[in-house]
Amino acid sequence: MATINEHYMKLAAGYLFPEIGRRVNEFVKANPGIKVIRMGIGDVTQPLTPTVVKAFHEGVDEMSKADTFKGYGPEQGYDFLREAIAEHAYRSRGVDIPADDIFISDGSKCDTGNIQEIFGSDNKIAICDPVYPVYADTTVMSGKTGKIQANGYYEGIIYMPCTAENHFIPALPAESPDLIFLCYPNNPTGAVATREELKKWVEYARENRSIILFDAAYEAFIRDESIPRSIYEIDGAKEVAIEFRSLSKTAGFTGTRLAYTVIPAELMAFDAEDNPVQVKKLWNRRHTTKFNGVSYPVQKAAAAIFTPEGKKEVQQIIDYYMENASIMKKSLSETGFTVYGGENAPYIWVKTPNGMKSWEFFDKLLNEANVVGTPGSGFGPSGEGYFRFSAFANRENVIEAMERIRNL
Ligand code: MLT
Repeated sequence: MATINEHYMKLAAGYLFPEIGRRVNEFVKANPGIKVIRMGIGDVTQPLTPTVVKAFHEGVDEMSKADTFKGYGPEQGYDFLREAIAEHAYRSRGVDIPADDIFISDGSKCDTGNIQEIFGSDNKIAICDPVYPVYADTTVMSGKTGKIQANGYYEGIIYMPCTAENHFIPALPAESPDLIFLCYPNNPTGAVATREELKKWVEYARENRSIILFDAAYEAFIRDESIPRSIYEIDGAKEVAIEFRSLSKTAGFTGTRLAYTVIPAELMAFDAEDNPVQVKKLWNRRHTTKFNGVSYPVQKAAAAIFTPEGKKEVQQIIDYYMENASIMKKSLSETGFTVYGGENAPYIWVKTPNGMKSWEFFDKLLNEANVVGTPGSGFGPSGEGYFRFSAFANRENVIEAMERIRNL
């Protein structure tokens, strides 16, 4: 008799974004002809840049000829891409990450979810609240939690509330976790962590022999030069942190798929006898067993973003989205909302008006302004009473959505 992974039955709800999609589709079906503006899921709208497209085409052309055709590539990614990342994403910013510590994958969502597999099932996980829902959901799926409680927290997870009072940067937890998920620039609040704050976390992890799972998917949106883009800008971080990065939002790869995860050779976890084991070795074992690499044309396209022309083009797109964020922030503030984020991150986090519940405000906005956002409570209990707008829409829609909200 086939039985199920019972831990899946503990999940309190469906995954957040399909649930939003379902409600929006229902609305569209019932109201044909109404233009709905989507600022919910952080999905990009600007196309791949010319340099990226050219490299993509070249990759496809190479696949079409017998003498340049490629079958299986290295599971960890082609050297040309790993070298380009090591040089342009790290070394050029003063951080020495060898190409060999970089693992190319098809998404940070997958990597942040899958990483738990190489750690013991008794590891205690600390998660910010609110946060990208993948961390909590995959912790539940992997059997590290009990049931969900009345307060919306799963038993066994160490939740770290992020509120306006603590500027959406959690306090160090009293109970010491083994794995700590941090995401900065933050999804969903748009907050950033300063050098001092990251230093505090790195020191904490070193003292507690914990590992920080640092999701830096939005690092490219940092405008303030004093904010670290990588946790490895902090001394000692290589011994305690894994960093996840993605080209999804950075270069419009949400549909193309390419991300990378850095696991420094120095990073150790411990076996039952307290012997250190290289985490990178375990991830390499997993990756080579369960993954056959990202397709060659996609890796070729990805490498193009690190060329001088590619960098310029990608920066223009990031500037475009950040201009959206600034238009939204200004307009929502003028409309009377309390607004956070949007300065070094593509997300705007607002307090719902008159103490409305997040989903209540979602319905109101959808029905009355035909604008879609993401209810803050979908990111965790401390997100209740908040709402997230994504700045990835096109400019015309951003302006129209802001006008509609103003006229509500
Ligand atoms: C979000 O809207 O939070 C993200 O787009 C989801 C993701 O990156 O998977």
